[in-house]
Amino acid sequence: MAKKRSSRIIDKTPPTHTDILSDAGLTIDDIKILENRGKRAGFKDLKSYLFHLSAQSHTPPQSNTSEEPLLVPQPILEFKTRLGETYCGDSLGLMQSMKTRSVDLIMTSPPFGLVRKKSYGNEDADKYVEWFRPFAEQFHRIIKKNGSLVIDIGSAWKKGYPTKSLYHFELLVMLCREFGFHLAQDIYWWNPAKLPTPAEWVNVRRIRLKDAMNYIWWLSPSPFPKANNKRVLQPYSGSMESLLKNGYKAKLRPSGHDISEKFKRDNKGSIPPNLLALANTSSNDAYQRYCRENNFVEHPARFPITIPKFFIKMLTNRKNLILDPFAGSCATGQAAEEEGRKWICCEMNKDYLLGAKGRFIDDEKNVNGKTKNGKPKPYLIYPPLMHEIDERNVKLDPKGGEKRLKDK
Ligand SMILES: C[S@@+](CC[C@H](N)C(=O)[O-])C[C@H]1O[C@@H](n2cnc3c(N)ncnc32)[C@H](O)[C@@H]1O
Repeated sequence: MAKKRSSRIIDKTPPTHTDILSDAGLTIDDIKILENRGKRAGFKDLKSYLFHLSAQSHTPPQSNTSEEPLLVPQPILEFKTRLGETYCGDSLGLMQSMKTRSVDLIMTSPPFGLVRKKSYGNEDADKYVEWFRPFAEQFHRIIKKNGSLVIDIGSAWKKGYPTKSLYHFELLVMLCREFGFHLAQDIYWWNPAKLPTPAEWVNVRRIRLKDAMNYIWWLSPSPFPKANNKRVLQPYSGSMESLLKNGYKAKLRPSGHDISEKFKRDNKGSIPPNLLALANTSSNDAYQRYCRENNFVEHPARFPITIPKFFIKMLTNRKNLILDPFAGSCATGQAAEEEGRKWICCEMNKDYLLGAKGRFIDDEKNVNGKTKNGKPKPYLIYPPLMHEIDERNVKLDPKGGEKRLKDK
C-alpha cells in the first residue's frame, strides 16, 4: 500500500519543518512518530526535538568547539569575578556547549512547580517533569562520575484542595529511573521562620500543619560521589561536651547499642543529621542593600548562602567547578567564590543578574544565618505533644474541613 505523503502548495511562505521533512521523503506517519518521541522526551514541539537531535549527533563528546547550531541559543556572559562567570540566558544552551564530565557539583534550586504562578515564572506542577527532562539529560552528561547534583526544591499544594502535588517526588524518580542517578541522600531544609501557609488550610480551617520544609535531593552519577561529613560538623551538645570533659562508664544502652570507649574521643564536633535548620530571614545583607541602593529587583526566592556553602564544602575541593543553571541572584556563585571554588551561574532573567553583581563587589560578606558577632544561631525544636490540650474542647470536623466552619 502506498504511504501517505504530506503535500505542500508552492507559494511564497517559508516552508515549515513538516514541509522540509516531507520533501526529504518522510511520510506523515513518520513525522507523527517523531513528534510523539519528542513529546515523550519533554520537547515542546517537533522543531525543538529536531534541533536537539541534530546538536546531539554533531557535538562530539569531550568537545565544546562544535560550530553546529545548538538547540537553544548560547547565553551571554554578563560578568566575571576572580573565580566565576555569570551568564544571562537559557542554561540549556550553556550546558550544551560544556564539556562532558567537566563539573564537580551542580548546586541549584530550580523554579518550583507551584500551582500559583510567581513573578519569576514557575512551571506548572503537572508539566514539571516533562519540562525538566532536557535539563536532566545535560546534567547527567556534564557531571563528573564522582560529582554530585544537589537540587533544593519546595513542595506544592493542589489548587483548591488541602492535598499536595507529587511533582518533586516524580522529579526524583525520573532522575533515578530514566537517567540512572543514585539518590545519595534526601536532606530536609527546615526554615523555622516560614509563615503558616497555605493560610486557608493551616490558619483558617486548621486542618493541615505549617509547611516549613524544603526537599534537597542529593544525587550522583555513581553510588560513591566524593564527600566528607567531617567538613560540615556541628558543635557538640552541652551533654556531649560535659561527657567528653568528665568521662563516663562504657555500658550497653537499653536499645542494645554498645556505648563503648570510642565515644569518648573528641571528633571536634558532631555529625549533622539530614535536617538543616536555617531561617531565611535576612533583611539587610550586602546583596539586599546593593539592590535597594541601585533600585534593582531583589530575587523573591533566594536560598541563604549557607545552603550552597554546606554542600560545596562537603562535596568539593578548592578549584573544583560548580554550576548553578537556575542561578537567580547567584547565591551559589557567592558561596563558591568565598570557598575558593570555580563557578558558573546562569540565569535567564537579566533583572536578577543586575542585583547579583552586588554579591561580588562589596567586601562586607553576607551575614545569612549568623548573628552580628558571627556566631551561628541555634534553633529550638520541641518534641511533639509537649503542649497539653483537652481534646474534648477541640472537635474534629467529620467532613475534614471541606467547608469553612462558622464556630472554630
Ligand atoms: C528558585 S530561583 C533560584 C534562586 C537562587 N537559588 C537564589 O538564591 O537566588 C529559580 C531561577 O531559575 C531561573 N530560570 C528558570 N528557567 C531557567 C533556564 N532555562 N535557564 C536559566 N535560568 C532559568 C528563574 O528565572 C529563577 O530566577
